[in-house]
Amino acid sequence: MTTKRTSRTAAKPVPSLHPHILVLHGPNLNLLGSREPKHYGRATLEDINRNLVERGRTAGAVVETFQHNHEGALVDRIQQAGRDHVDFIVINPAAYTHTSVALRDALAAIAIPFVEVHLSNIYARESFRHHSYFSDLAVGVVSGLGAQGYELALEYALRHLQDRTTPHGSQKTEKAH
Ligand code: DQA
Repeated sequence: MTTKRTSRTAAKPVPSLHPHILVLHGPNLNLLGSREPKHYGRATLEDINRNLVERGRTAGAVVETFQHNHEGALVDRIQQAGRDHVDFIVINPAAYTHTSVALRDALAAIAIPFVEVHLSNIYARESFRHHSYFSDLAVGVVSGLGAQGYELALEYALRHLQDRTTPHGSQKTEKAH
């Protein structure tokens, strides 16, 4: 018989001094820059990601980005984020916004707070885009502000995580409603 050693502390994420934020992009967002610019603007995915990583660095955070066109690869990346104890997720699920129970379930399973971002205003477009499988689980939704939407979501995440880790933030015992 073998005995399994378990560590009591291993599963308990400790708030990091260098918050870890994951930015996820769904299908076709690799085409940003040339894809329907009237909806999605002219910034490329590389422009957007570079800007977010740089902003994270100046704020002392690690910002990682990941784009994939396949649902399963995105599910795998979300599960990985759970194992890595990522602190916050910014996600544009793209077309999977309107179809993917699998991605929703993955986010629900790992229970990492996330903001949902859309470059276009999905509520001003075709009715099939009006429903999101993510919005009710999200901390918040930014839709229609173009690439700036990602920046605003990241600023929210940085502020949220700073409040959580600074001595000042941790002294707060009650939240005013
Ligand atoms: C999108 C909106 C979705 O409806 C669409 O399928 C996308 C991009 C946006 O960023 O506006 O691919 O998520």
